[in-house]
Amino acid sequence: MNRCLILQSEVQSFIERCMIAVGAKPAHAKSLADVLVAGDYRGHYSHGLNRLDMYVKDIKTKICAKDGEPVVINESVATALVDGCNLLGPVVGNFCMDLAMKKAKDVGIGWVVARGSNHYGIAGYYSMQALKQDMIGICLTNTSPLVVPTRGKECTLGTNPISVAAPSKDGDSFVLDMATSAVALGKIELHHRRGDEIPEGWGCDSQGKISTDPSKVLTGGGLVPIGGCEATGGYKGYGLGMMVEVFCGMLAGSQYSKHIRTWKVTDKVANLGQCFVAINPENFAPGFTDRMDDMLSLHRNLEPAEPGVPVVTAGDPERTNMKKCDELGGIPYHISVVNYMNNMAKDLGVNPLLPTERKVEE
Ligand SMILES: NC(=O)c1ccc[n+]([C@@H]2O[C@H](COP(=O)([O-])OP(=O)(O)OC[C@H]3O[C@@H](n4cnc5c(N)ncnc54)[C@H](O)[C@@H]3O)[C@@H](O)[C@H]2O)c1
Repeated sequence: MNRCLILQSEVQSFIERCMIAVGAKPAHAKSLADVLVAGDYRGHYSHGLNRLDMYVKDIKTKICAKDGEPVVINESVATALVDGCNLLGPVVGNFCMDLAMKKAKDVGIGWVVARGSNHYGIAGYYSMQALKQDMIGICLTNTSPLVVPTRGKECTLGTNPISVAAPSKDGDSFVLDMATSAVALGKIELHHRRGDEIPEGWGCDSQGKISTDPSKVLTGGGLVPIGGCEATGGYKGYGLGMMVEVFCGMLAGSQYSKHIRTWKVTDKVANLGQCFVAINPENFAPGFTDRMDDMLSLHRNLEPAEPGVPVVTAGDPERTNMKKCDELGGIPYHISVVNYMNNMAKDLGVNPLLPTERKVEE
């Protein structure tokens, strides 16, 4: 049994103490911890605690700023351009989403774009803030180049996620939160470590040819857009990845495409571009949440193609994961993650991450 259970409050506090130890402001450390814990709780382990060392390094090496707050540099009733001042991504994200929601409450829509930002965790965290005010939230970010465009052989786009959250009735919602690459890099790394082949349509080699060999994808090759190769519609994922850049890098005047620093190479500031939108359904046709409720149940109640494997809607798999965590009373982590974190804690001189006594089934 190599998984253990950790209380959410302990994960939250561990992230905060590590970040504060390297000099982050307590409020900024809390913003980061909130997003990372939400990532793990929702089941997106690739964007939670697992990534803490990256943020620690960013603050420790001073490549990411620890002092200051984001600044509005251009504004209209419905729009704003924000300078993230090279602060932690969640600090910029919260500032921009709050501003977008305020504008949407005033005039029906708030469209805020940030430059000078950093990696901000799961995009869905920000779009979902709008649900709390019965509004639609949209969030997009550009990221370091890892994706090879259709017919190309060089990585020119990030995994540029798209998230759209829309409220339904009684706290229910649609939450689409997806990378625009076929899979996350982490999944390919995992297969490589295990010595397994990857399914066709996840990545390509240095010549742009679809490959099932993870080592070829990781050395000189790259991820492919959603849809895979051209014949299976990969160009649509390629288009979506570039669309994210239209709303992020292009509107914000931040870094974009292959000009963004290489993933995990922190030799220069990231200067990411991000986009945060809030839309108030009350400015449109009445009965929005009734129709949302109908559309969601219409799909969830479909007869499944495979008996026992129900049709779900975007946000449902994450809901199932959160329910599982609630039943367990914490978030399950692989013991290797805990050991890794506790080696880091030792180096930083902070109290270790403490799992509960409960072991979790695989
Ligand atoms: N900050 C960054 O740089 C960055 C980059 C890429 C991804 N991310 C984050 O990584 C996370 C994971 O992204 P991903 O693309 O691997 O997610 P994923 O493939 O697990 O899920 C994508 C979406 O599909 C939905 N979904 C899953 N199975 C479904 C089914 N059977 N039927 C209907 N809907 C279903 C999910 O609810 C989700 O909305 C996201 O939170 C994303 O924001 C962040």
